[in-house]
Amino acid sequence: KPRVVHTIKEYRELRNEWYRQGKSVGFVPTMGALHTGHTSLAELAKSNCDVAVASIFVNPAQFAPHEDLNKYPKTLDSDLDLLAKVNTDVVFVPSVAEMYPAGIPLQVDQQVGTFVQVLGKSHQMEGSIRPHFFRGVATVVTKLFNIIQPTHAFFGQKDVQQCSVIRTMVRDLHFNLKIVVGETKREADGLAMSSRNRYLSKEERAVAPILYKGMQATIAAFESGVRDRKTLIEKAEKVILRQKNIKLEYLSIAEPLSLAEVDVVGKEGAILSGAIKVGTTRIIDNVLLGME
Ligand code: PAJ
Repeated sequence: KPRVVHTIKEYRELRNEWYRQGKSVGFVPTMGALHTGHTSLAELAKSNCDVAVASIFVNPAQFAPHEDLNKYPKTLDSDLDLLAKVNTDVVFVPSVAEMYPAGIPLQVDQQVGTFVQVLGKSHQMEGSIRPHFFRGVATVVTKLFNIIQPTHAFFGQKDVQQCSVIRTMVRDLHFNLKIVVGETKREADGLAMSSRNRYLSKEERAVAPILYKGMQATIAAFESGVRDRKTLIEKAEKVILRQKNIKLEYLSIAEPLSLAEVDVVGKEGAILSGAIKVGTTRIIDNVLLGME
């Protein structure tokens, strides 16, 4: 089993030893309730670095008051078993007080504390539905990078905007580490793996793949030469809106670097992303158009 570390102090002793030994450290931040998407990143960390570290921390700062912070699934024992199977060396499992000693700065009634915000990338796409989400993510990932001191950090393509926000933050704040992005892991019917999939009832689980199915229709149109936004969006929309008992939150076709919406997909390709709501559960996904 991996070594479980709860405090920054204990982790720093390990990290100092690894500095002395000149070891590379691969880091996979997570919120737990782990699945193959997470463990594939842990495997990448282990195969690319001398030491693999994961963190499990349900970050209150990235949840809005009406979201699922209090019911977010907690499965620490099975998480540790999964990480043991992929030879993760250390799992950092801090308390909220350890991570936010001055309180959580993002709560509205509080005017103290520090946060990190990546301007220009945090309010479109997922940020249009979850306006405080990416500053919560950028803040906690900054804290985790400062604690873990990784040489490499691993993120999933499933959360494509999160990858973009983190890459921009690493560049702008001069973090001395390399970001590696792992592919989206899916269930047999195409549904992107997510910790939140365990909220789905049997009936909801059956319709959840419709977002990815819709995206396949857009990919088919793109491959047959369609480049204009309106037609490409309509292809996915038609499939998704036909499905009963779901709500389409948004579909986006964005430029891969700036995340600005595009009217016509150019040579640099684009990111097709979107979200649906199945019952009370949000499903997000994305695919790349014309970028390999
Ligand atoms: P969480 O949702 O637990 O995801 C942790 C990492 O696993 C993220 O990099 C995410 O993109 C990746 N991941 C999730 N599902 C995946 C899938 N189906 N295929 C591949 N990778 C997948 O993302 C977060 O936690 C948090 O925002 C965090 C970065 C930990 C900050 O709190």
